[in-house]
Amino acid sequence: MRTAVPGALLSVAGILISLQSVQGWSAPSFCRGYECPEYRLVHANENFEERFYNASDWITTEIEGTDFWTVRGGYNKLCDYLDGENEANQEIPMTRPIAITVLEPSSGEDRSITISVYVPPGTDLPKPTDSSITEFSLPAGIMFVRTFTGMPTESNFFDNLEALENDLKSAGKQYNPLRRIAAGYDGPLTLFKHNEVWLQGA
Ligand SMILES: *[C@@H]1O[C@H](CO)[C@@H](O)[C@H](O)[C@H]1NC(C)=O
Repeated sequence: MRTAVPGALLSVAGILISLQSVQGWSAPSFCRGYECPEYRLVHANENFEERFYNASDWITTEIEGTDFWTVRGGYNKLCDYLDGENEANQEIPMTRPIAITVLEPSSGEDRSITISVYVPPGTDLPKPTDSSITEFSLPAGIMFVRTFTGMPTESNFFDNLEALENDLKSAGKQYNPLRRIAAGYDGPLTLFKHNEVWLQGA
């Protein structure tokens, strides 16, 4: 059950955001002090936010499914890379969010699932020793975002995506239904987890 954000709170948020854009970007509190991709809030209502994200770089690896252990395996692989399992034995700071992307095939291919970690601008990425880790860039653009708390389970992920799709349809927003993204910001020990599902504007 999701609590609606009262209109007054949203307008306070709007004022804070316009102040913020005057002073430059500061990462939202749900990034928990980690670097995370920069965006500008275009629109918000009680169900979703429309954000315009800067272009961003990510390191990524393919996974076989979205169940807990499969995701965990992919996440550990990316952590090892960041912890120095790379050709330069270089440690790279952890960031937020950790994103799981499910890309449905538009034609005959299989669907692909990846797990990715954001890479801040200017980061010098050493070559991975594990060839299944690659780098990719997400172009700047609109992302529709629904936030939910609690455990970021597979069923919560898909339920919230469905709710977001329904809200976008009622609001008449154009989005890409083939690329579905779950963005997690918290480790297992955080009590009040901030989770998001993203659909790209079309
Ligand atoms: C994000 O985009 C804005 C607007 O183009 C720009 O001013 C800002 O420097 C960019 N931030 C990063 C981290 O690239």
